Amino acid sequence: SAIDQINSNETISQPKMSRASAHLLKRVLMVPPNHFTVEYSINPWMTNEKVDKEKAMQQWTELKKAIENEGVEVLTMEQQPNLPDQVFVCNSGLVFKDKVYLSRFRHKERTGEQEHYLKWFKANRYQTIGEHYEKFFEGGGDAVFSDDKTLWAGFGPRTDKSVYDLIKKLGDVEIVICELTDPKFYHLDTCFAPVDETTALWYPPAFSEATKMEIKRRLPNSIAINDDEAKAFVCNAITVRNTVISPIGIGEQTKDTLGKRGFRVTEVPMGEFMKSGGACQCLVLRL
Ligand code: ARG
Repeated sequence: SAIDQINSNETISQPKMSRASAHLLKRVLMVPPNHFTVEYSINPWMTNEKVDKEKAMQQWTELKKAIENEGVEVLTMEQQPNLPDQVFVCNSGLVFKDKVYLSRFRHKERTGEQEHYLKWFKANRYQTIGEHYEKFFEGGGDAVFSDDKTLWAGFGPRTDKSVYDLIKKLGDVEIVICELTDPKFYHLDTCFAPVDETTALWYPPAFSEATKMEIKRRLPNSIAINDDEAKAFVCNAITVRNTVISPIGIGEQTKDTLGKRGFRVTEVPMGEFMKSGGACQCLVLRL
């Protein structure tokens, strides 16, 4: 019957429930942009363009709603007036179960954020590691899980490669070192976004040859994006269940490829945050 047919079609197009990202995102932390500005420059995207505060709040709210629509709980933390980049809370640390490895920022402009994150994690009963701030490390901006134990470990412009020896203390984590070679793609999350256990959206020119090979080997279904998409920050996307939430600018071909694999795309405007070199992935810390 017609109904049977609809049902069976649904079954076919319904992606497997074992998607890696599905269990990774249950709760996230975000910081509403009450004091977000661009007033210094610590990456090539920060060219002193004035932020439209109202627009920034709208864009942030749209992102938050897109995440909540997928059934994810969004916690929020207040932004300090003198720390304009605190909205990029994904840089606060790397959370693994009930532990967090705290970030030490490369640039003095952001080190003031550290004490506020430490306070938040303690208040929320996380076991904190990295409180001696031995090595530069920028948290979820450079260290990204593609399944429940595989950690893509970016280093270069911001994070020290050697910090990953300390990050092993988080527990049963397999660390895959990723060398970033292009100053425009200064955090791993600007050129790499896991989609499921065999797929990432990625921008190959941002990586060393060895890292490119490792990405192709471990994530063989990965989708390489083009220059225009890279400039639009398309890799700064997050996957929640079967939805890829990305900044506007994802190409038709990429959308098609994702669609065939059972993923739909929700595009959100992120223009105000891109003036600071950030977008969807940077604004969200996975808890
Ligand atoms: N202006 C911020 C910085 O340069 C942007 C951080 C973006 N965060 C990210 N995870 N890519 O530090």
